[in-house]
Amino acid sequence: MKPKKQNPDFLYLGKKLLNWYRINARNLPWRSTRNPYKIWISEIILQQTQVKQGLQHYLNFVQRFPNVETLANADTDEVLLYWKGLGYYSRALNLHKAAQQIITDFEGEFPQKYEEILKLKGVGKYTAAAIASICYHERKPAIDGNFYRVLSRLFADDYDISQAGAFQYFSELALQMMPYEACGDFNQAIMDLGAEVCKPKQPLCQLCPLAADCMAWQTGAMAQFPVKTKKVKATDLALQYYFVHFENRFLIRQRADDFIWKKLYEFPDAIPEDWLQFRQSSIVLKHKLTHKNLEITIDTIALPSEALLETLVKQYSYIIVDTEASHQKSFPKPLEAFIQQWEQRKNEG
Ligand code: ADE
Repeated sequence: MKPKKQNPDFLYLGKKLLNWYRINARNLPWRSTRNPYKIWISEIILQQTQVKQGLQHYLNFVQRFPNVETLANADTDEVLLYWKGLGYYSRALNLHKAAQQIITDFEGEFPQKYEEILKLKGVGKYTAAAIASICYHERKPAIDGNFYRVLSRLFADDYDISQAGAFQYFSELALQMMPYEACGDFNQAIMDLGAEVCKPKQPLCQLCPLAADCMAWQTGAMAQFPVKTKKVKATDLALQYYFVHFENRFLIRQRADDFIWKKLYEFPDAIPEDWLQFRQSSIVLKHKLTHKNLEITIDTIALPSEALLETLVKQYSYIIVDTEASHQKSFPKPLEAFIQQWEQRKNEG
């Protein structure tokens, strides 16, 4: 273990970050509440899904199950139904069981201390720290990949994050930065900075409130941090697609030049809610990438008219292709296989 850094200026860095967050925080529905139940649901959803994709699921879930009691008393099938599209159904089952655990072991009151929250089924150190800090101001850093990246760059710290001691090491470093007030905001500031500014690739250092203090930025060495020698376990990621077609024409869009499957074509990831009435089928495909275990849900939506197909084209940058034209485009492997099978079934009548 490396010697611990001790520096009173670290607290100042935390305050700077907090000031930045107060102006730049993303406006997200779970940020207007301190209700631990809702924070818990949001954190579990966001463990496996990006904010953009998780948002609507969160709203639907808390509308149907607005508190611990409604979730604990719900039918398992219905909880799973509301998890549809998020994948990794074991997390929904854990949520359900933990809600029942709160009723039986905590007299229906959401636990208020980190150590107690940690006892809930499916809640790990990251989630417990997020809930305890956001809802109860407990001074616990919610250490995840964002923390490793931001802190290792800020201090040009080459502690290998694939080592067993990394969690403890970065927790202690984070604690030195963490303000004594607004601990939940500090954790969420790191989440936002990591997601929007201190990104894994092509970080936007010009926008970073800590750029002047960042040792990686001073030497242009952002890409060298965090140091990771051993391959880390692939993380789980759920994707939801809609294969929207009218006869043999369907909608596709080119992916952006970031994250996975850069510039390949994909299907819509969101549709008007009333189109769900045209859902013909739904399949779940598993696919492994180097660092991601994907669970891809594809719902087939058979629209009753060509005009409806055009509506998404007008609103977003989708294009309509037939199977012939789609062969001229590159799709991620699992989507390609999906199109081929669909074509085959169609030809077989
Ligand atoms: N990712 C995980 N937790 C989050 C939160 N509370 N806000 C934004 N993104 C998150």
